[in-house]
Amino acid sequence: MLYKIRIHRQSQIEELQAEEGSNLLQTLLQHNYDMYAPCNGNGTCGKCKIRLIDPAGPEPTSKGHTILSTEEITAGYRLACRTTINSDLDIRLDDTDFLKAKVVTEGRRRKVRLSPAVSKRFITLTPPDLEDQRSDSRRLADTLGLKQETASLSLLRQLPATLRAANFETTLLFNRTRLAGLEAGNTTAKLFGIAVDIGTTTLAAYLLNLNTGDQLATYSGLNPQKKFGADVIARISHTLEKPNGLAEMQAAILEGINQAVRQLTAAAGLQPTDVYEIVLVGNTTMLHFLLNLAAKNMAASPFIPVTTQTFILQAAEAGITINQNAIVVLVPAVAAYIGADTVAAALASGMSTRKPVSLLIDFGTNGEIVLGNSEWLLACSAAAGPAFEGANIHNGVGSIPGAIDSFLIEKELKYTTIGGEKPVGICGTGLIDIAAGLYKAGIIDATGRMATGTGLPNLPQSLKDRLAVIDGMAAFLIASADESAHHQEVYITQKDIRELQNAKAAIAAGIQVLAATAGIRLQDIEKTYLAGGFGSYIKAASAIHIGLIPLELSGRLEAIGNAAGAGAVEILLSRRSLHQAEKIKQKIKYIELSSCREFNDFFIDAMLFTEE
Ligand code: FES
Repeated sequence: MLYKIRIHRQSQIEELQAEEGSNLLQTLLQHNYDMYAPCNGNGTCGKCKIRLIDPAGPEPTSKGHTILSTEEITAGYRLACRTTINSDLDIRLDDTDFLKAKVVTEGRRRKVRLSPAVSKRFITLTPPDLEDQRSDSRRLADTLGLKQETASLSLLRQLPATLRAANFETTLLFNRTRLAGLEAGNTTAKLFGIAVDIGTTTLAAYLLNLNTGDQLATYSGLNPQKKFGADVIARISHTLEKPNGLAEMQAAILEGINQAVRQLTAAAGLQPTDVYEIVLVGNTTMLHFLLNLAAKNMAASPFIPVTTQTFILQAAEAGITINQNAIVVLVPAVAAYIGADTVAAALASGMSTRKPVSLLIDFGTNGEIVLGNSEWLLACSAAAGPAFEGANIHNGVGSIPGAIDSFLIEKELKYTTIGGEKPVGICGTGLIDIAAGLYKAGIIDATGRMATGTGLPNLPQSLKDRLAVIDGMAAFLIASADESAHHQEVYITQKDIRELQNAKAAIAAGIQVLAATAGIRLQDIEKTYLAGGFGSYIKAASAIHIGLIPLELSGRLEAIGNAAGAGAVEILLSRRSLHQAEKIKQKIKYIELSSCREFNDFFIDAMLFTEE
């Protein structure tokens, strides 16, 4: 039996049909609603909330009761992932503001000499006559001063018509030195390329003029694979559970890339056919899906990818709708959890060309860490979990408007929110600031234990009044119901602090393992680059105060934004940079933390909050 689901968003109502017994979250995702579901529908993150227009609709399940407050349940809030469709439903999705999340597209770029892999050359051939009956191919080779005729069979098929379309004036397209295409007339002004950073959650893309190196447009959007799961493990599971799951995953990412191409070219007044090269970076799983390669063996120990090599494909072969003679470059990866995005970030940081030792940290559910210099590079991937993205945090949210992103306790408690809007929750950078502030004020101790009120005689009464108990655990009130956008209190809880301790300890221990493996002291690291959106907004003092970044690195931190995207752009502009990326791949020695004994020791130490 089919039921109607009416979705109310702002003033619009959309309608879809769903089978009896189907899951509401899955139904919404299948219909391309951008639901935030970082726990993959396990009912633990609380981020897939919808609101029933009729609050007396389906009762929440036991997990819903655990996650949602009594006020939320009364107001009609339910977890979409825990809601089974057994009747027609009217739901409101206004609170699904995941799409408004700040996506950092810009990254610090190095200056490179413009030398893209693709180039064009305009030539004029002498038209044939009865005195000159050379073949079209010979005529072309002679004009280029070549002894051998080099045009491929597919180019020979285009050659006669192309030459005669503009009176033997033609533009040749080269992929490095290989003749890759022919166009009638002079089209040398049209030579554009796109660099794409395929993230598990978002796609960032950049359109560049390959004649000048100018950036013409940027794009950010959600990865359409999100409907199959929030993280790489969930998506790999989908490819294993569904007979055509891998093909679905490939089709979704291709659609995401093709959408980016359409939007970028439209924004610059161009056509997709004006794009002659695309450079793609992403984690190893994303690039496997793009190539329709099985990612199964990366999901479990010993974490083996099918390949980590560079690929240079024809656009049609890759399934990307741009110029038919364009090339698609997939940047090499290192291992299952050190992908082409990390290689590109290391390239953009310039760390592999300098003698002094640098550290690169790209924060995420897996924090990728690279340490080294022009002679050696070590890398590891630390399983930080989703706390930095606001997931598994009681009032956690992504970097959306209204997210509390900074916090301070001076005489009074102060916080700011993204966009200056009323608070809706706490994002990753806010979480770090809050933990640092509470630790400084003595509200949490070095082990992370949160005070319950009796043990802090010197704490001002205004702060004591904020101590609370939520679901049987200690908590601290950050924003009152009157202050918040949803008229509900925003708390930080003891469990939130534990989640943060696990995340920060994973990163800090990863750094310590790399330094110990290299046999260097942290003081010897000249520069620490913080990459990614989170790395751009994190407050260095707070990150050091809670021990996420070791104190020894203080004063030498630099946020470099979307370094993976910057590396992809660099490779698009300079074929030498692809060569450098390959050298970085070769040079990086990957350290697997799950089999590293020292990691556990460092991790336990790093769970503590540190004294400055
Ligand atoms: S996706 Fe529903 S609670 Fe996480």
